[in-house]
Amino acid sequence: MERRIIVTKNLQELSQQAAAYCLEKALRAVATQGKFFLVLAGGSTPSLLYQRLSSPPLRQQMPWSQTHLFFADERSVASTHAHSNVAMAYATLIDRIDIPQENVHIMRAELASIRQHAWRYAQDIAATVPQRNGVPQFDLVLLGMGEDGHTASLFPETPILHEQRWVAANYVEKLNTWRVSMTYPLLNHSLDIAILAAGENKAAIVREVLHTTDAPRYPIQAIRPQRELTWFLDQAAASRMTSL
Ligand code: 6PG
Repeated sequence: MERRIIVTKNLQELSQQAAAYCLEKALRAVATQGKFFLVLAGGSTPSLLYQRLSSPPLRQQMPWSQTHLFFADERSVASTHAHSNVAMAYATLIDRIDIPQENVHIMRAELASIRQHAWRYAQDIAATVPQRNGVPQFDLVLLGMGEDGHTASLFPETPILHEQRWVAANYVEKLNTWRVSMTYPLLNHSLDIAILAAGENKAAIVREVLHTTDAPRYPIQAIRPQRELTWFLDQAAASRMTSL
């Protein structure tokens, strides 16, 4: 696995570079297999990236009709809720592009049947995404990172870190909430992963994660795609890195 770290002046530039990266991966995947299987990150950092992808010129350049969109994780709320990752993606990307409705694979996580939602999502992935060695292989996964080193809904000291199923429900005690999330066996089978981190509040964890030679302590450190792991950081998030 190759690891790259890209540092940009600010979130605007980070989003622009990450959008160009998505286009490059999309065109490569479509040229190779006729389709592009992309997993969207939740949280707030990627929203500007999604707006870039759904604005000219990228809106016209992206092969949306051959693209399938999935979600790395979702909060235990309705897909229309203000805190929903699906809702954020619709507002900043999906409602602004010409993508076939059947190509958007919504992750549902309402509490009432959260385990069934996780199981059904894994079935949808299995039925849609080409498998390599018996595991679906996404072309590109976008991820964020929390200040505690979580990514998707893989939070420190939670059961999902040891989960072998591809998608699972996860109770996050410190947030007193349930999530649905893709797991390491699925995420790490993807070809490429891009992690986006911006802002001064991420500087400490970025240094911990990218600089330490100690044994891995944070969930994000166990993210290892098959081909390429690219970190997109703005200067604020990279500000405690002594050398890059
Ligand atoms: C979520 C995300 C989560 C997010 C990080 C960073 O549902 O919140 O999946 O993993 O990427 O918490 O969030 P920000 O981008 O808002 O800092």
